[in-house]
Formats: sequence, structure tokens, C-alpha cells
Amino acid sequence: MSMNSADSPSAHAALGDAYEAQARSAPERLDAFWMPFTANRQFKQHSRLLASARDMHYTTVDGRQVLDGVAGLWCCNAGHGRTRIIEAVSRQIATLDFAPTFQMGHPLPFVLAERLAAIAPDPLKHVFFTNSGSESVDTALKIALAYHRARGEGQRTRLIGREKGYHGVGFGGMSVGGMVNNRKFFGPMLPGVDHLRHTLDISRNAFSRGLPKHGAELADDLERLVQLHDASTIAAVIVEPVSGSAGVVLPPEGYLKRLREICDKHGILLIFDEVITGYGRVGNAFAAQRFGVTPDMITTAKGLTNGSVPMGAVFVSNAIHDAFMQGPEGVIDLFHGYTYSGHPLACAAALATLDTYAEEKLFDKALDIGAFWEESIHALRDLPHVIDIRNFGLIGAIELAPREGKPGSRAFDVFTKCFHDKDLLIRTTGDVVALSPPLILDKSHIGQIFGRLAEAIRETA
Ligand SMILES: Cc1ncc(COP(=O)(O)O)c(C=O)c1O
Repeated sequence: MSMNSADSPSAHAALGDAYEAQARSAPERLDAFWMPFTANRQFKQHSRLLASARDMHYTTVDGRQVLDGVAGLWCCNAGHGRTRIIEAVSRQIATLDFAPTFQMGHPLPFVLAERLAAIAPDPLKHVFFTNSGSESVDTALKIALAYHRARGEGQRTRLIGREKGYHGVGFGGMSVGGMVNNRKFFGPMLPGVDHLRHTLDISRNAFSRGLPKHGAELADDLERLVQLHDASTIAAVIVEPVSGSAGVVLPPEGYLKRLREICDKHGILLIFDEVITGYGRVGNAFAAQRFGVTPDMITTAKGLTNGSVPMGAVFVSNAIHDAFMQGPEGVIDLFHGYTYSGHPLACAAALATLDTYAEEKLFDKALDIGAFWEESIHALRDLPHVIDIRNFGLIGAIELAPREGKPGSRAFDVFTKCFHDKDLLIRTTGDVVALSPPLILDKSHIGQIFGRLAEAIRETA
């Protein structure tokens, strides 16, 4: 077969140079990209552009080394630029760039699903692939509804989320989510959704180390909703075992266990959204294992491929999966899926990521270094404006008192100061500074993160 001239090696090198030159010109070409979850006009006046990354650091377009305190966006648990992942993806794109998975297949998603099932808690041994956390959430909600219908309980249509929950931006995830700005602009939510009360209680739990002591009884809020709607109308409850986007809200001791018991009592499915807690963030593969509470489904994304190629995975219990396998064999069992479910590049990235996590024992890291992380973050409690500090696994949050009439602005100033003056990437939501570093970090990185952050908080009025 003749090689198209645009496919020749010399043409590739020239193209690579051309893309690099275009990337260098980006700071003058910011207008067309409408950035997600961003104050676009402000950003375009004071841009923050990352050019490359390796291990614990990003390099900015102007050549500064920025320490990554948030694993990109809770994604790059094995740090950046990992050779095994680069090679796996490069090899894969040269071998099989795309293959459909509707009534067809290719080897990798089968192998990957089996590898994932092996690290998931029993009995969550089936995996449905998506491309993001939002898609994983909407997939799980749809499976919950269809599962009840398949069992002859099609009247169970109600979905229960929680205040301050974040489950992505699809209509399902937005509706069960509980962050007001993510909801109020977008008209009617899904009908038949209700919310549990959130578990943040600074008045009783401020500066808790690890899980807060007070608030397990908040799980009983599900009983209130059962009294209101009747269990026979409720399909599922979805919660993040540890919520990230709403500013790191932790489950009080015993809360998740109690929620599981109430779900069991009423035949309600329990979904853990582990898009941020999955793949080692809290010191096991999944938070479900760390907390010893097994849901019926787990939604994941982000760390699945170390952030390198978009991919999500929904873990489904054997009982749920099997309920779909009762109809005629020749008929599609779940009318749901994405063109890119089980994409070859994503699968290759995920397999290499799992190998990296296993080889470097990264799922143990949050346990190994968690005490030092906890000690270090709580050393910031006497800094100006700090009203709470929360930590669990390799997650941390520092909540600042909001400025009068300008909520969120104090933490945002800390964020920009960290990035521009302290060479540290953090994340803020409202007036909470959130941290979730790559799991490859050592004690010296922890010292740098909190040293630089402390300076930035001190210097921010
Ligand atoms: C718990 C949780 N669920 C869902 C999502 C949405 O994931 P994505 O942005 O990949 O759609 C996120 C993203 O941060 C998340 O934290």
C-alpha cells in the first residue's frame, strides 16, 4: 500500500514543528475558546497557561516550574508525563485508532474491565465505559431506573441526591447535584428528584482531623424522604463518599454505613460517585473499601487514565447486571452507550495507568503519608481568616472567611497569588482552598505546598 505523502516521516516532523509554533502563539490568540467554569474575560486579561508537565510539576508557557497541588483537576494521581502511559497510548494509536463497541468489539475494553473488576469491591464486578465523570453519573442513574423496571418495579423513578453534591453537568447529574450556581441558570431540573441535607457542620466539627465526629444522624434524612415520597417510588440515592467540588465535605463517622442500612431496608440502590475518590485518593482503590461500605454502583473517571485520555467507568453489582440479562438473547439489553465507550486509546492509557499504580503501590500512599499530610495542613489553622481545615486521605481543604459582599474573592486571590507568585497550583471553590496532589509526592513536596500556601494566605488581605 502506498504511503500518502502527508503521512511520510518528514511531513510528520514538519507538522509537529508547525503545531509547536502555533502553541507558542496562543497567548495572543485567546478569544475563540470559551473556557469551561471560567471567568473568561478576567482570564483573558491575566492568562495562566501551562505548556508541559512532568512528575509533580507543570511548566508554564513563560518557563516557570509550578508545583501541582491538585493533580491537574483531581486526575493525575501518578503525576505527569509517565513514560508507560505515553508509550501505551502511542503504540495503540498506531495499531488501532478507533473501533466501534456497539454489536462489535476489540480486545482492550474486555481486558480492562476484568482488571478493573479485580480491584473493585465485591460484588461490583461489571463495568460500563463512558468518557467523563458526568457521563458516568448519568449512566448510573439510567441503569438504576432501568434496573427497577426490569424487575417489575418501574414505579421506582425518584432519584435522591444531596445538598452540596457535585455529579457533573449532564441534566441527570445537575439535577441530583446540590450546588446552586450549577443549577439556577438552567431552568427546570429532572422531575422527581429530591435531596438529602449536606453534612458540613463547621459549628460542631471545625478543625476535625480526618472524619468529623458529629453528624452520622444526618443519614436519617433519607427516612424523612421515604416518609414523604414512599420507598416504592425511590430508585436510587447518589452521594460522593467525600465530596470535592463543593469544598471538600467529609462524611461524619458512621454516616455512610447508616445510609447503606437505610437503603437496604427500603430496596433503594446506593450509588457512590467516586470520580475524585476513586483510584487511590483516600488510601484504597476506592473510598468504598476505605470506609467498608459497599454501594450498588460506583461512578469513576479522572484517575482511571491518570487524566491522560478522557474515560469514565461505572462499576455495577452482579445483581444489577444480571437483571438485564433475563430477556431474549438477541435483543439489546441496555439501550445506552457512547460512540467512544471503551475507546482504544483510553483503554491503553487505563491499562498502563493501572500498572503504574500497582507497581508504585500508589493506592497505599494516602495511608503511608496521610498522617504527615494531616499534621502539615492543620499547622495552618492560626493563619488569618482561616475558619476550618478538613482532611482525609490525600485530600485537604482550608476554608477562609468570606469578604463582606464578595463571597469567593478571598480564596480566588489566594489562588492567583499561589500561581503567579508562589509557583503553586491549588484549586478554590467559594472560599475554600482544596488540595489533592499527585499520589507520587513525598514529604518535601508536602512541605513546599503548605509553606507556599501559608505565605499566600498571609499575604492576602
Ligand atoms: C464527584 C464528581 N462527579 C462527577 C464529576 C464530573 O466529571 P467530569 O468533569 O469528568 O464530567 C466530577 C468532576 O469533578 C466530580 O468531582
